[in-house]
Amino acid sequence: MTAKAQDTGAAGDDETRRDFLLLTTGVVGAAGAALSAWPFIDSMNPAADVLALSTTEVDLSPVEAGQSITVVWRGKPVFIRHRSEQEITAARAVDLSTLRDPVPDEDREIKPQWLVVVGICPHLGCIPLGQKPGQPRGEWGGWFCPCHGSQFDTSGRIRKGPSPTNLVVPPYQFTEDTSIRIG
Ligand code: FES
Repeated sequence: MTAKAQDTGAAGDDETRRDFLLLTTGVVGAAGAALSAWPFIDSMNPAADVLALSTTEVDLSPVEAGQSITVVWRGKPVFIRHRSEQEITAARAVDLSTLRDPVPDEDREIKPQWLVVVGICPHLGCIPLGQKPGQPRGEWGGWFCPCHGSQFDTSGRIRKGPSPTNLVVPPYQFTEDTSIRIG
């Protein structure tokens, strides 16, 4: 009797662990689905008055230097990169006269290590690659748009290809040392 009760308890723990793993997998799956469904979501954008109120809170503390995350704000992907010292130095060493859309790197971040940009190519609206390890980032180490070849640097500025402008920096603020509110 006692042994049976212990067995049941062990099975319960296993089930709890399984539930947790399933839940975790489900959350990751939902985030992936949200990003891959971006064109569909965009076509269902809510009314302007609803959009005006929407903000996205992001905890940056798990993101290590060199890593990137993508969050959704107002139905759009937002790229957040925790830039390394080398990436910051490269972005700040650029001669502005060589840029199509000349904006100093210093004017594109609140804190130099955190770059926050809308992940939509200003050319025709594709989502550039470069967020995940192994994806092409172009010659300047930022992002590469596979649709027509636009390349962006580690400040999200257009360096090559047809995009007329840099990746857009959305309105955001730091609510804590490693937390931001977009919108
Ligand atoms: S949509 Fe990105 S280069 Fe055309």
